[in-house]
Amino acid sequence: ELPRPYTTAFALPPDLTPTGSVTVGGRERPLYVIEQRQFQARILPRFQTTMWGYNGTFPGPTIRAVRGTPIVVRQINKLPQRHPILRHESTTSTHLHGAPSLPQYDGYANDLMRPGQYKDYLYDNMEEERTIWYHDHAVHHTTENVYSGLAGLYITRNAAEGQLPSGRYDVPLVISDAAFTKSGQLLFEDHSESGLAGDVILVNGKPWPVLRVERRQYRFRVLIASLGRGYKLQLSPAAPMTVVATDGGLVPEPQPVTTLTAGMAERYEIVIDFSRFRIGQRVELRNLGVDNAIDYDHTNKVMAFQVVAEASAPDPALALPPIAEPALPEKPLMQLTAADAVRTRRLRFERQGGEWTIDRKTWADVEASGFRDVLANPRPGDVELWELENNSGGWFHPIHLHLVDFKILDRDGRPPEPYERGPKDVVYLGENETVRIIARFGGAFPQPNGELVRRTGRYMIHCHNTSHEDHDMMSQFRVGADDP
Ligand code: C2O
Ligand code: CU
Repeated sequence: ELPRPYTTAFALPPDLTPTGSVTVGGRERPLYVIEQRQFQARILPRFQTTMWGYNGTFPGPTIRAVRGTPIVVRQINKLPQRHPILRHESTTSTHLHGAPSLPQYDGYANDLMRPGQYKDYLYDNMEEERTIWYHDHAVHHTTENVYSGLAGLYITRNAAEGQLPSGRYDVPLVISDAAFTKSGQLLFEDHSESGLAGDVILVNGKPWPVLRVERRQYRFRVLIASLGRGYKLQLSPAAPMTVVATDGGLVPEPQPVTTLTAGMAERYEIVIDFSRFRIGQRVELRNLGVDNAIDYDHTNKVMAFQVVAEASAPDPALALPPIAEPALPEKPLMQLTAADAVRTRRLRFERQGGEWTIDRKTWADVEASGFRDVLANPRPGDVELWELENNSGGWFHPIHLHLVDFKILDRDGRPPEPYERGPKDVVYLGENETVRIIARFGGAFPQPNGELVRRTGRYMIHCHNTSHEDHDMMSQFRVGADDP
């Protein structure tokens, strides 16, 4: 049977350290090696669950990168030839979600690796500090592969950290859900249009865990790694959660909120001050649920914090580091307004003929065009305003753009929610909603030598409800000229 909520100890994913180096373009880069393998996980009290994992863990090991220090991550596919339950071929493609990687290292859905093969992914770490994640992106099998366990965190840091809780007070929370068979194996139940929904909530791979905390502030890096479930988070007893960062890094102004709605693949960094509670008190992180989520007895609970001690070290007041952009020649993202856009596009997210579509097209259409078909073709550095329109009836879609960070301008003309006023790469597109976003395509990444790098090429855009993505709400845009 399932464990009762708040009976399992909290755990952290392991950190990954480099094991060598690789010379790329005359420069040495630290090498991180990851084996994708099948392993037995301890999730439920009396069972071993067969999973897939990066280095045989779920979540995978956390990669900690420093801005300006490029690295290489070698992904080796050591999976069995076929999935143990679903029997599809175990091909993988690894996407670093939230990084402006070169197209050939971006985990393109059709850039597949078979068992026995490996690939070196070059990550330049040019972007601002942020919490991002790597996960599988194999065409039509992202749901099964990520649900089986192929997901891990990647945290980029700047030199300056400001006064944010750090060290053991800086805690990742990878939130997902799963369902299990009577023998403790993963149950793949795709609830048709809603997507995958489990009755067990996992945090860092543990069911409804309890974290013991001191009476002080903690920084939590929340990643919604669920595939078909969105969350509306709230503390009980009610208390503020101060949002200090969104998908693409620190927010211009910390935002205290009491509820926070987050869809699949979104990241929010929140600071919770436990000094407002007394020793012995239990504080729950609850899930109030979102539209069209499939709820079970305990999916309204995520985890608990048990206040066990006074602060063991001084706890300075919260202060974000100054956003020290090295004299950007162009307006920073969070200062862009609609007037900065050189063009406006409207994309419709719909359901047609049993498939999920973007502007009446599917990924199959992109494949049929020999990958030439694109939704949009901005010039490098163009600021564009995209209107994302949900015409699919009663479903929300977390829409993700690869390559770019964007700013949310408004939702149906209303200002964005307080917690989403920071750089984003996924936006929660509610039922029948239209959200306007603005971005500089290809970015502007200033280098130490004063050069300005822009990224060009083809990048995916898709719904991050992976059941929608796999069938077939995925397309692509291209920045700059076509491939030679
Ligand atoms: Cu998190 Cu295209 O993915
Ligand atoms: Cu969707």
